[in-house]
Amino acid sequence: MKPLLDTFGRVADDMRISVTDRCNFRCTYCMPEEGLRWLPRAELLTFEEIARLAGIFMSLGVKTIRLTGGEPLVRRDVEQLVAMLGAQGVPDLSMTTNGFHLAAKAQALADAGLRRINVSVDSLLRHRFAEMTRRDALGKVIEGLRAAEEAGLAPIKLNCVVIRGTNDDEVCDFARFARDTGYQVRFIEYMPLDADETWEMKRVMPSDDVLAAIGAVYPLEPVDHGPEPATVYRFADGAPGGVGVIPSVTQPFCSNCNRIRVTSDGQFRTCLFALEETDLRSLLRGGATNEDIAAEIRGAVDRKWAGHSIGAPDFVRPSRSMSMIGG
Ligand code: 5AD
Ligand code: SF4
Repeated sequence: MKPLLDTFGRVADDMRISVTDRCNFRCTYCMPEEGLRWLPRAELLTFEEIARLAGIFMSLGVKTIRLTGGEPLVRRDVEQLVAMLGAQGVPDLSMTTNGFHLAAKAQALADAGLRRINVSVDSLLRHRFAEMTRRDALGKVIEGLRAAEEAGLAPIKLNCVVIRGTNDDEVCDFARFARDTGYQVRFIEYMPLDADETWEMKRVMPSDDVLAAIGAVYPLEPVDHGPEPATVYRFADGAPGGVGVIPSVTQPFCSNCNRIRVTSDGQFRTCLFALEETDLRSLLRGGATNEDIAAEIRGAVDRKWAGHSIGAPDFVRPSRSMSMIGG
């Protein structure tokens, strides 16, 4: 079948599938402290439904599937889903997790066929980590990283959302951590997807400032890589590990965006900030054929917009926050 080409010439071949809206953390830039209502279980796609969708998306040229949440490791038996997707031959299967359950789950995930993993770590200081995630769990996450390493998940990438006035003084410490461990630390600009709606432009630490701060201490060299939103650097002195930046706010990568998403309740989104969703769950449960579903997906990709305009007066926040969409 033809790839998922949109009207701006972009090919959608990289997808995120959220497996749950639940999370055991409450990161301030994502979730409210309390009061979020979880989706009823019956509204979540089953593993069979997710696997069927993955097959349809692969037939449409999707090559990369990343499992997200909420927190994917709070979905019971998620390693079974990993094994089901692995058996279908997903070319590149990965997961983004907060790392809390990795110490317990890393080996099972690797055994099920997971190859690599991204772990969110926003501070290397125990108290600040606890403030940002509203859980005192840095030690547990570090333990999880070691378990992932031992299980052979590689490369290990860390995601760090940099918020000015909160953790922007730690970017060099993260770079040193990357050098010590061989991990790649990716600094993500803070986006207006927090449930509390306290995002402000002045709290965004531009990626260029992150690179300048690190480069002054550890000189960096750009690494050539394929089309992905992160710009990746190695250490000029040959130290292991690396750093990357994802300048979603100051330099939106919309014109090269190859991403699509399915929420845990089976809604298809062509952009993190999309205001429109396509209800794939109803199709799956209503007797639609794979061809019918593929046609709906194609139609939605055809309507994918040029991009978002964070910070501009006409920017409209999506009605769901990050944990409900799936990073
Ligand atoms: N801005 C930027 N990144 C965010 N994430 C969650 N909320 C936000 C936000 N408001 C990130 C998490 C995780 C990934 C899935 O999305 O840190 O690494
Ligand atoms: Fe949970 Fe991830 Fe949201 Fe943090 S960013 S609250 S770990 S879903």
